[in-house]
Amino acid sequence: MLETGQAPPLTSEPRKPVNPLLRRKPVEQMVAEGGQGEGGLLRRSLTMWQLTMISIGATLGTGIFVVLGEAAPKAGPAVTISFIIAGLTALFSALSYAELAGSVPVSGSSYSYSYATMGEFIAWICGWCLVLEYAVSVAAVAVGWGQYLNELLDGTIGITLPETISAPMGEGGWINLPSLVVVLLAMVFLMRGAKESARINSIMVAVKIVTLVLFVGIGIMGIKSGNYAPLAPLGITGISAAASTLFFSYIGFDAASTAGEEAKNPKKDLPRAIMLSLGIVTVLYVLVAFVAVGAMPWQDFEGTEAALAQIMTDVTGTSVWGVVLAAGAVVAIASVVFAVLYGQTRILFAMSRDGLVPKVFAKVDEKTGAPRANVVIVSLFCGALAAFIPLGELANATSIGTLFAFALVNIAVVILRRTKPDLPRTFKVALFPVTPILGFAACGYMMYNLPIATWVAFGVWMAVGLVVYFLYGIRRSSLATAEK
Ligand code: ALA
Repeated sequence: MLETGQAPPLTSEPRKPVNPLLRRKPVEQMVAEGGQGEGGLLRRSLTMWQLTMISIGATLGTGIFVVLGEAAPKAGPAVTISFIIAGLTALFSALSYAELAGSVPVSGSSYSYSYATMGEFIAWICGWCLVLEYAVSVAAVAVGWGQYLNELLDGTIGITLPETISAPMGEGGWINLPSLVVVLLAMVFLMRGAKESARINSIMVAVKIVTLVLFVGIGIMGIKSGNYAPLAPLGITGISAAASTLFFSYIGFDAASTAGEEAKNPKKDLPRAIMLSLGIVTVLYVLVAFVAVGAMPWQDFEGTEAALAQIMTDVTGTSVWGVVLAAGAVVAIASVVFAVLYGQTRILFAMSRDGLVPKVFAKVDEKTGAPRANVVIVSLFCGALAAFIPLGELANATSIGTLFAFALVNIAVVILRRTKPDLPRTFKVALFPVTPILGFAACGYMMYNLPIATWVAFGVWMAVGLVVYFLYGIRRSSLATAEK
């Protein structure tokens, strides 16, 4: 059936009309549709390591290279503890992701899990949050990339790009050209399909891991024990405020779950890739943070733009290592743009197949097996966002959107255990249902800690999402058309 490109039957049971907001997509149907796009199939080519690299690619970047510098003055040397707290929050949800990715191995990530468990309306809300997590964060990360590139240019050839071409209107310029360029570069590579994209991604991930390992290896020589005392000058409040800020650095571990329909052995490999990437990233973060606050007094992070590069320069006494680190950061942040953009295209692919966004997003190019039109539209959208729009609060709303999607995944895992107890599961959340409940609570607590302006931006974003759903998705949904 899959080979013929025909849609599988919706269900074998007779259909009775259901409340459109509550209609659910059966897990079996989702799995049967695996890979199937408009006019072609996605190709299954990704190995467990490549999936792990996709998640690390989407995760490790701005958070450790830039946001650490903002969090250190909030928590003091205890910022290392903040990283552990943020990592634990991510871990609870990662376990839920791993269980669902192993039992519903499709490309829509938490959007698809919500569709199978809580119905179309919640799934749409989740999908709309994922656009914040993925598309808006691509734009925000691309903007950060432009800033880092400027620093690298400054440190190497002493030139910085003029503001006219490195900031959007409203922020003193006309266009943020570097951000646009990095998104368009990612687009060109993504057009080649998953296999080629995974190769490029793995190279970039290797570069960023080596850069951070180098940082730890060299930075450790600059540690002064006095820098660790007092450990928590701003108390628990400071530690948890920094943890909320640093949660951003863990966003992306779920990216492997957007590759379900391109994985060779998704049921086995997706859960492993999610857990492994989170483990590797957490160890790196904790080591880097520990060395960074040991080598530089925590107060000095305030106002230091590229703290890690600065530490390398200070410890070695030569700017060469600082430049090496800045170059690694440029690759690292570009790889986040790349991997997150990949994830967004695959989520929209799944949503399009379900009829909630236009069909063009599910069109697959026969030669490359890539949803090329989707890649172009998403890249142009994200590129334009990064180049022309001052993102301000919308960028901050990325974390809240992600936390919301994570919270839903924790609920979905509980529901699916009840509604489909016999569904084969290659990975099971330990200490069920305590773990997903804790995961849900942790996400709620992190959301609660975010500033009110972020909530307002999130509220506006969700209101727009509701309008789009009621004007488009509710009637165009493939479940709705099947009912007619
Ligand atoms: N976690 C990603 C980063 O830190 C979004 O850049």
